[in-house]
Order: sequence, then structure tokens, then C-alpha cells
Amino acid sequence: MADGIETRVFDDAEALAAAVAEELCELTERHTRIPFTIALAGGSTPKRLYELLASDPYRERVRWKDVEFFFGDERSVPPDHADSNYGMAKRALLDHVPSQGHRMVAEQGDARGYARLLSERIAERRDGVPVLDLVLLGIGDDGHTASLFPGTAALDEHTRWVVMNDVPQHHTQRMTLTYPILNAAERVWVLIAGAGKTAMVAECLAAAARHETPRPILGVRPTAGELVWFLDKAAAGR
Ligand code: 6PG
Repeated sequence: MADGIETRVFDDAEALAAAVAEELCELTERHTRIPFTIALAGGSTPKRLYELLASDPYRERVRWKDVEFFFGDERSVPPDHADSNYGMAKRALLDHVPSQGHRMVAEQGDARGYARLLSERIAERRDGVPVLDLVLLGIGDDGHTASLFPGTAALDEHTRWVVMNDVPQHHTQRMTLTYPILNAAERVWVLIAGAGKTAMVAECLAAAARHETPRPILGVRPTAGELVWFLDKAAAGR
């Protein structure tokens, strides 16, 4: 535990995905609020989790009609584009279960519309902000999470729950949830695998222990909810 960040380490990316799938099944089994709302992450690590959830024995354990999916961020591309987070999640999971999934239409830039949707679909509030039951996130090798990139305007957003963020590093704009809604969540699980993440994980955990927040991921600190970083041994540097 580094200053409020619970870390759990698994042998490899496959074991990590299986552990998160198991935990997610147990969570939905005991959960009573309907819908159970989940914000999905893009990237390679969650993809394996989505594939597992879409296959037995996990798939048959979840009441998928009671689950509603949102997204943490999206690239400015249509859903059939190879870079689309929605497209990846659709192929890996959403096509195989009867849940509703709400795409961020980032290529049209309607962040306000997505915030409205969150407001309409989620009744629970924390300080006036919709409470997602579960947010899945990843970490980029620059410490970004969702599309909260270092040095970008979205890091300073304290009011809006969803914004279009200029990301000069990638010469693009992306739609992203912001800290206010991420930190209002009931639980945030950060999935981190691979040796490419070792240095960033070590830097972030050391900074967290000093109560410093030099990287965007460190701004994710749920005010009342749970925060767990799921790591494989490579990312944890073991
Ligand atoms: C995205 C993601 C992003 C991702 C990290 C980690 O759209 O790119 O939402 O924030 O989670 O870059 O990605 P990997 O799991 O592929 O390392």
C-alpha cells in the first residue's frame, strides 16, 4: 500500500486479467443497485479481460442485462477504426453480452452530450457528481490515464465531467472523463502489465508515498471509493 493505493501483483498479464475477471464477477453477484455501471478503458491490458468476461465460465456468472457500460476515454475516430476504444471493447465483449454500451462519439466532439448521458443513466451522486460503480483504467508509459495526458488542459478541469482534450503529443483531440467524475467513483481499478511500465510504476508509487502527484494517474484518488492497482510482476519490477 503506497499512500492509499492498494497494489496487487500477479504472475503475468494473463493471471492479472483472470483475477480481475473473477473479482468483477463476484462484485456483480453481490451488487444490488441496477444498473451496475462500468467505465471501460482502452489499451491492450483490458482487452484480455474483456475477452475473458465474454467467455465461460465468467460470462454465465454475470447478469449482463443489469450492467451498463460507459467509456473512460475515446480517440477521435469512428467505431470501426483500429484505434477505437469502443470498437475494441465491442469486438472483445459488447458483441457477446446483452448489456448496453454507450460509445463516446469523440469524432463529433460532443462531450456535453456524454456528460448528459451519464447524468441521466446514473442516479447515485457524490457531491453532485454521478457515481460510477466501477472505473477501469490503465497507465501510459508517460503516466497518462484515460486521455488525461501530461501538460494538457483536462488535468485542470474541476467542473465538467467529460471534455474534449487537446493532446499535442498525439496531434489530436480525445474525449475523456475528468478527475471530478473519476474520483467520485465507487471503485477504480487500474490495470498495468508489462516491462514497459516498470519505470513509470516505480516512479509513481515512490511519488505517491511522498504525497506528490507528478503524473496524471496520481490525480486519480477516489474521494470515498476504493483504489486498486492490479499489476503483473513485470510492471511491478519483480
Ligand atoms: C487509451 C487508454 C489509455 C490506456 C493506457 C494504457 O485510450 O489509450 O484509455 O489511457 O489505458 O495508455 O494502455 P495499455 O493497457 O495498452 O498499456
